[in-house]
Amino acid sequence: MTATLFSIRSQSGDIRSFLNQNNPLMPEEELQAFVKQFFREKSRYTACLDQHRTPLYLIDPDVLKKKSRLFQEAFGKELGNVSFYYAVKSNNHPDVARILLQTGVGLDVSSGMELEMAVSLNAPDVVFSGPGKTDEELKLAVEEADRLVVLIDSFSELSRLQKIAASQKKMVRIGVRLSTNPTGLWRKFGILVEELPQFLQKACDCRNLRFQGLQFHSSWNLTPDAQVDFLESLGRIIAQLPQQIQRQIQFVDIGGGFWPPQGEWLQEAGTQAGIRRMALGLHPGKNKKHYRLPALPIEEFARHISLAVKKHIFPHAPLCRICCEPGRWLCNDAMHILLSVVDKKGEDLVITDGGTNAVGWERFETDYFPVLNFSRPALTEKNCHILGSLCTPHDIWGYNYWGEDIQPGDILMIPTQGAYTYSLRQNFIKPLPEVFVLEEGARVGSSITKQLFSNQ
Ligand SMILES: Cc1ncc(COP(=O)(O)O)c(C=O)c1O
Repeated sequence: MTATLFSIRSQSGDIRSFLNQNNPLMPEEELQAFVKQFFREKSRYTACLDQHRTPLYLIDPDVLKKKSRLFQEAFGKELGNVSFYYAVKSNNHPDVARILLQTGVGLDVSSGMELEMAVSLNAPDVVFSGPGKTDEELKLAVEEADRLVVLIDSFSELSRLQKIAASQKKMVRIGVRLSTNPTGLWRKFGILVEELPQFLQKACDCRNLRFQGLQFHSSWNLTPDAQVDFLESLGRIIAQLPQQIQRQIQFVDIGGGFWPPQGEWLQEAGTQAGIRRMALGLHPGKNKKHYRLPALPIEEFARHISLAVKKHIFPHAPLCRICCEPGRWLCNDAMHILLSVVDKKGEDLVITDGGTNAVGWERFETDYFPVLNFSRPALTEKNCHILGSLCTPHDIWGYNYWGEDIQPGDILMIPTQGAYTYSLRQNFIKPLPEVFVLEEGARVGSSITKQLFSNQ
């Protein structure tokens, strides 16, 4: 501990400011406006409770459709020839994919299971990416070759797919994933850019595979910098390829990783300062404030990425189409979780009927989301530990709620839980919530169509 403290002190000069240096606070008025919109529509979210019980996931088709339109408009305005593939992994409920398919996007699947779902929804345009595709998954891909492009992850996958396609006498369209970071854990994805010429040569020898394009993906982008930087290096690589190969590049798929415009919302423990304090065995901090890392709007992502594409890619591959694989950006705001208070164990401690197995990870220890008390709404946030009913102390929804009071039987909502929660849900201790799809186009006060889906 002393050595760590010493090195930190010598790096930062002042240990106290190093430990307290925090991320930007979340603007209070923006948070209030966010909370207000959900309180205003609370009857829309709770009307289903005359037939269904909490805990419950709510899917909002209007939000999904709006997000899809905004995303497509932003990129469509900048780049004429652009295609969109919803990354199913971000929320794998079939109705999320079904609703997004109605908006003209394709699907990005990362496993045989997700591909089967795409087939069951009759998705006409699918990309299949991901490391370690098994022979069974590749066989399914070959069977579905008419609707699918396989984004190859390695040299051995290329050979295995060729063998399977040849045995089925099928022609399969392929692309190749390029690694954006050859070190650390990200090196498991794709091939190295330096290996591209060798890969393309091998692909040319595969008589049942037709090479069409390149893919990369970078994650967790609050700004387009990572995508822009990689497009620049990719342009240099493409420039060195023989012209006849350049002409074969029909698409460059820039992956997903677009952070929603509201930015990343954090508890103290999720901030840099909180992480440092915890690494030193200290409490992450107790000032009960919320923090926000800002993200750029999607129009800015589209503008910067399009400029980079026009500068670095189109001069060498003029015929290529740009593809995007947004996940989080489309589904994050389109799913909410309804809970009830089961027990009040103190003025500052309540237990809800649902646990965080519904989101699959200890999300709210670091991420902040408002807990809305629909039974006693108020635009004030009160301190109270809102904990789930799992037999683990890490089952936390939040440390505050928005409302005038909180009592057993109250209905709570945790809004905007659509991304990397439902897909990660765990069969752990308590049953998983059911899923209810809100009626499309329903205004406050109108009736809500009841649709219940099993949770498989
Ligand atoms: C290849 C690929 N494409 C798209 C996505 C979707 O990313 P996001 O949900 O951040 O947009 C992912 C997420 O891991 C991915 O691995």
